[in-house]
Amino acid sequence: MKVESVRGMRDILPEEAPLWQRLEAEIRATFALYGYREIRPPLVELAALFSRGVGETTDVVHKEMYVFPDKKGLKLALRPEATASVVRAYVEHGLYAKGDLAKLYYMGPMFRYEKPQKGRQRQFHQYGVEALGSLDPALDAEVIDLASFLMERLGLRREGLLLRLNSIGCAGDRVGYREALRQHFLPRASELCADCQRRLAENPMRILDCKQPQCQPAIRSAPKSVDHLCDACRHHFQQVREHLDALALRYGLDHTLVRGFDYYTRTVFELASRELGAQDALLGGGRYDDLVELLGGPATPGVGFAGGMERLVLVLQAQRGEQTDETPELACCVVPIGDEARKKAIELLARLRRAGVSADMEYMGRSLRKAMQVAGRRARYALIVGPEELEQGQVKVKDLATGEQRLLELQEFSAAPEALRSRFPR
Ligand code: HAM
Repeated sequence: MKVESVRGMRDILPEEAPLWQRLEAEIRATFALYGYREIRPPLVELAALFSRGVGETTDVVHKEMYVFPDKKGLKLALRPEATASVVRAYVEHGLYAKGDLAKLYYMGPMFRYEKPQKGRQRQFHQYGVEALGSLDPALDAEVIDLASFLMERLGLRREGLLLRLNSIGCAGDRVGYREALRQHFLPRASELCADCQRRLAENPMRILDCKQPQCQPAIRSAPKSVDHLCDACRHHFQQVREHLDALALRYGLDHTLVRGFDYYTRTVFELASRELGAQDALLGGGRYDDLVELLGGPATPGVGFAGGMERLVLVLQAQRGEQTDETPELACCVVPIGDEARKKAIELLARLRRAGVSADMEYMGRSLRKAMQVAGRRARYALIVGPEELEQGQVKVKDLATGEQRLLELQEFSAAPEALRSRFPR
């Protein structure tokens, strides 16, 4: 029986892995530059964490979450996002007790039962940060600056990026705003899709997330959240914008940007790419000043963002075309000729690796010609160990890029690790 992978969950193959590794390393380095430390929450949480934290009426919880009982009937979920998990860990481990700003970052797979398409999978990977403990609008701007600097550092063209910004105010503001939305959408209910008709009853803010063409006219003319902000929230938003201006970060105000989770308060933002199709959001985030308290901790504000690795890879691949990395994966490929030589080859191989030189051997019983072809694809140098060379106490070294050959004394392989490494660079 041939077993295939699950729809929407794909393998990242060895050809792609080096790009992923480079991106992950740069993301970690950039997060560290801004003072974030890594946290690794589990992939499985109690389903209640997300229904409470993200919101029962959100699409992510209502339609897309992988929920299953464990053997004792406990309702578990594969995490659809990580903010709720990070906040749960923050509360559970009393990270607030240190009384400081907690700056945490994460990276890893998330799961949402969505319809797969370009840039949208059911298992996808996010990188993200959460800063917990401060209401300072300069922190909102810093988080947006981090997101934008990260994209630049990863090599995305600035002119291909679009920063969308909005403020949805505090919980109090949203009571009035929801009511204004209800008043706006009620007379237009028949124009809305079936999902939005449900959303109108449950939470009319979610209508603004809808991508159905039939709902767009009603959404475009909907009341704006910025017109329903209290004085404190209006002032906060004004200051965020001033800080963004001071950092020369260009943004567009998007009044329909409310983001699909209930935990957001005040600032919300997304960074989109003109090089992606319908799923154009590279990353998104915002403030969530009530979430820590909602999940049982002391009232503590928070702000953060998360981005999708797959979308980053798509944009970078589109920018670079089909250009691939020509650097061989190994420094050396050892090609023994005959059984006696093979024993010596195994010994040399072990010496090279212990000295920190990446190396492999011909294991497939290929002819010398074939073995050299394979070595040409995989390594910078072929080390040919044959009976004649061994008799002379030597190894033949072929530079596979230039074709140049020379003989090397066997005792050279006992040299200091640095000497071997500089002799065989990749
Ligand atoms: P989100 O907007 O749902 O936010 O996801 C963030 C990013 O993850 C998106 O902008 C997108 O790049 C990527 N993404 C989301 N769903 C998929 C999918 N099905 N396939 C591929 N990529 C996807 C959050 O998850 C929030 N927790 C962000 C946050 C952190 N807010 C505050 N702190």
